[in-house]
Amino acid sequence: MGTDAKSPLPRHVAIIMDGNGRWATRRHLPRVAGHSRGVDAVRSAIETCGRYGVRYLTLFAFSSENWRRPQEEVSTLMRLFMHALRNEVGKLRDNGVRLRVVGRIADFDPELQQLIRDAETVTAGNERLHLSVCASYGGRWDIVQAVRSLLATQPELAAAPDSIGEDDLARHLALAFAPEPDLLIRTGGEQRISNFLLWQLAYTELYFTDLLWPDFDEAALEAALAWYRSRERRFGRTSAQVAAG
Ligand code: FPP
Repeated sequence: MGTDAKSPLPRHVAIIMDGNGRWATRRHLPRVAGHSRGVDAVRSAIETCGRYGVRYLTLFAFSSENWRRPQEEVSTLMRLFMHALRNEVGKLRDNGVRLRVVGRIADFDPELQQLIRDAETVTAGNERLHLSVCASYGGRWDIVQAVRSLLATQPELAAAPDSIGEDDLARHLALAFAPEPDLLIRTGGEQRISNFLLWQLAYTELYFTDLLWPDFDEAALEAALAWYRSRERRFGRTSAQVAAG
């Protein structure tokens, strides 16, 4: 796939990585085997985005609602996160990737919280690819925490609510450092947002595929990028306006 300037690649790709459990169950394996293969697919997505010059990659790894899963699966996922952080952070650092973990980090075990802080610190100087892993994250939580944060920093706004604009709130969202996603990919066959980036997806192109996350390889991501490049993004304008620039 080429990279001509007429139809640019997305600057920011967000992914709902669904289907690990089904991938494993179809092979008569425990669900954790699917999550484990899911980590391999994460590595491949990071490498492919790096190669194509995608600047921001945001992954939905664990939702606020995922805490409701069986205790054993939750603990296994936490162990997997810790293992991935310990083993991959050096590679991220050396390849220009800046890692941020976005969500209610305080919900996690103190050991995992420390690993997250360390990984963020070690990669803080990088800017080739901004990788955000959303964990214990929910889009509604994000909007509520943004309102709280806005009013905490500017308490005078509580008495003048009409003066609050969209940009004021957007500055306090957890992903305020990133442009809004251009492309959202959801694997696993479902066509819903599942409380992911509710505010930020307002104008995002949505791409759904039946592939299960562990099967979402380099070619699959390239197909999604090619689909994105074929879209015309109008942001509320007409086709003629877009053509006129
Ligand atoms: C959804 O599949 C996947 C998850 C809830 C966990 C995602 C975690 C990973 C891909 C591994 C770790 C990630 C990082 C960033 C190190 P599912 O279990 O809901 O699948 P199902 O719908 O088939 O049951």
